[in-house]
Amino acid sequence: MDSTPVAWSNADAYLADLLIGHDPHLEAALSAQRDAGLPEIEVAAVGGKLLNLLARISGARRVLEIGTLGGYSTIWLARAVGPDGRVITVEAEADNAAVARASIDAAGVGDRVDIRIGRGADVLPSLVGGFDLVFIDADKESNTVYLDWAAKLGHPGTVIVLDNIGREGEIVREDSTDSKVVGTRDALRMLSEDARFDATALQTVGAKGWDGFALAVVV
Ligand code: DHB
Ligand code: MG
Repeated sequence: MDSTPVAWSNADAYLADLLIGHDPHLEAALSAQRDAGLPEIEVAAVGGKLLNLLARISGARRVLEIGTLGGYSTIWLARAVGPDGRVITVEAEADNAAVARASIDAAGVGDRVDIRIGRGADVLPSLVGGFDLVFIDADKESNTVYLDWAAKLGHPGTVIVLDNIGREGEIVREDSTDSKVVGTRDALRMLSEDARFDATALQTVGAKGWDGFALAVVV
């Protein structure tokens, strides 16, 4: 068995080819993001489709995304909510938001996506609640702040997806000084201890290496 990052990536490409295939709007969004020099940290194609399926399975009509980057995951979510649905996506960097805006509009879902520029801690208190699904994929140091807002802006049954919980296994290091690991561990502890959530977490290997996501419901 060849369990290496290259093999994980090859298998991910096989699955994406098979289950997603050629998608010009998503491919254009990735190209625009690369051309603009944004970091290559968007969700993998199979992860984007997972978000899309979770939104559809849960019947989500109002989606909150924290961390837009270039709008790749936003397009997956916007497609899921349908023409009468709404995605509010929060992005701290105005340059990223401009790239995202163009790609989301070009993908034909611009009328359902509202990009709010600013740091989550500043923008989230201004939002009206009632979100059916919240995708948290921003600065890991603020994960617990984002989970708190996800609960406040959600309702019983709201689906929460928290990205990047595996961190190449570093999450087991209780003495870690990596702020992203600390932020992730704090978030996982909150999902465990805070009675507003019921959660699990899955590690993943694939195009993004060894990582994972937490999946929670607001109870
Ligand atoms: C990082 C952030 C992400 O959201 C991700 O999916 C991968 C890596 C990072 O900040 O390193
Ligand atoms: Mg991420």
